[in-house]
Amino acid sequence: MKASFIASLFAFAAATAVAQYTTQSAPFYLIVLSQNATLNGTALDACHEGAAIEGLCRGGSIAPSTASTTLFQFNTSSSSNTTVDQAGYLSWELRGGNFNLSEPMGLAFNPVSNVAVPLFTPGNEDSTLVSFDKNDLMNIGGYLDDRVVPPTQMTQQYYRWYICTTYYGYTYETLAWVLGQYPPENPSCQKVHVKRVFA
Ligand SMILES: *[C@@H]1O[C@H](CO)[C@@H](O)[C@H](O)[C@H]1NC(C)=O
Ligand SMILES: *[C@@H]1O[C@H](CO)[C@@H](O)[C@H](O)[C@H]1NC(C)=O
Ligand SMILES: *[C@@H]1O[C@H](CO)[C@@H](O)[C@H](O)[C@H]1NC(C)=O
Ligand SMILES: *[C@@H]1O[C@H](CO)[C@@H](O)[C@H](O)[C@H]1NC(C)=O
Ligand SMILES: *[C@@H]1O[C@H](CO)[C@@H](O)[C@H](O)[C@H]1NC(C)=O
Repeated sequence: MKASFIASLFAFAAATAVAQYTTQSAPFYLIVLSQNATLNGTALDACHEGAAIEGLCRGGSIAPSTASTTLFQFNTSSSSNTTVDQAGYLSWELRGGNFNLSEPMGLAFNPVSNVAVPLFTPGNEDSTLVSFDKNDLMNIGGYLDDRVVPPTQMTQQYYRWYICTTYYGYTYETLAWVLGQYPPENPSCQKVHVKRVFA
């Protein structure tokens, strides 16, 4: 492998590690787009998976007037702008009795499955950078293609979102992310896109 390639990968990792994601967007809803009319247009709501841990559950139709639909924010690095496909953290605010805590989304991996579950947890250690494209669709950037030998640097946005019956702390119908190019091994998974709609 070329030294410049390795150097640029490390530079990317370092930039990701030190950047502060404290530029917060206006609040928005997350809406599911699907070929399945039952799912299409429904919102994703934060749902309890454990102490201070929330998943993204299939909710009802967007209902801004009742304020029952969950709002999210997008936290980006102050060094950059809200440009298309800029990476940042999807965040959700945990409301405590006497505190509010903004929690980033991270994918929880099961080593024996290709289906990962997005969770909001305290702290940025296990969080996953996401982007929104010009159509406000949520995606994840890929930077290394290991389907070729040797693995090769690339930049591509992926949209591997599904709605699946998952289990983390509870059995729910939640948003899920499928790892790699193959279909989800969980037979309940239905392909969707996730769109942000500002409140
Ligand atoms: C997002 O940005 C806001 C405003 O700077 C900050 O209070 C919050 O802690 C950040 N959330 C995350 C998950 O980084
Ligand atoms: C899903 O909903 C969107 C927005 O309402 C609509 O434009 C689209 O045609 C719907 N798709 C299907 C397959 O029903
Ligand atoms: C549409 O989604 C609902 C909710 O997940 C599910 O019960 C139903 O089986 C799906 N329909 C089809 C045709 O896949
Ligand atoms: C942010 O984007 C706007 C519009 O594209 C541009 O005018 C401005 O210079 C950018 N600011 C920074 C800090 O990059
Ligand atoms: C938490 O946020 C809500 C809504 O912005 C606000 O009304 C409340 O006072 C905040 N609580 C604390 C402890 O800051």
